[in-house]
Amino acid sequence: MNVTDAIRARRSVRRYRAAEVPREKIEALLEAAMLAPSAVNSRPWEFYCTDKAEIKQRLMAAHPACRMLETAAWAIVVCGRPDLQPSHGYWPQDCAAAVENILLQAVELGLGTCWCGCYPSEPRTGQVQKVLGCTSVPLALIAVGVPAEAPAQKGFYDPSRVTFL
Ligand SMILES: Cc1cc2nc3c(=O)[nH]c(=O)nc-3n(C[C@H](O)[C@H](O)[C@H](O)COP(=O)(O)O)c2cc1C
Repeated sequence: MNVTDAIRARRSVRRYRAAEVPREKIEALLEAAMLAPSAVNSRPWEFYCTDKAEIKQRLMAAHPACRMLETAAWAIVVCGRPDLQPSHGYWPQDCAAAVENILLQAVELGLGTCWCGCYPSEPRTGQVQKVLGCTSVPLALIAVGVPAEAPAQKGFYDPSRVTFL
């Protein structure tokens, strides 16, 4: 699959089959994440991954819009490290680039994902942070699994949002 196809095939998937996803595939997603660009190559991210039902339950209790973890095989939480960027604050963009790389790599691997935003919304960011026991800042929680649904495409090209100067 090429990147043109992956971008067009990606959807937010909220229902997954009861199929395991091997850790090697999660590691492939994480490698894609860490190949994302970052300001001054500061790589201000950390990744918390779990396939444990008990931890997914706690994440669902901490975040009000990630019920799809009920059926997802894995949760990946992408966390920012503002401390690695003392002179600027680009870490949310850097982490978002890492998130999008995960979503697109997942398409190629036959996996579905759903990006569930954390930072800057509270109290979910602080609550997810407590579940993970981390000091880095949860930016997004990503559900990952084998899709049990094929949602319609929502994205589209809108020329009214474009100005050529
Ligand atoms: C920053 C951000 C936060 C999001 N948060 C949630 C969320 O908490 N729960 C959820 O089900 N979907 C969430 N989504 C997914 C969007 O609802 C979805 O991307 C949008 O409806 C477009 O659908 P598509 O991803 O299938 O193209 C989020 C997406 C982004 C980019």
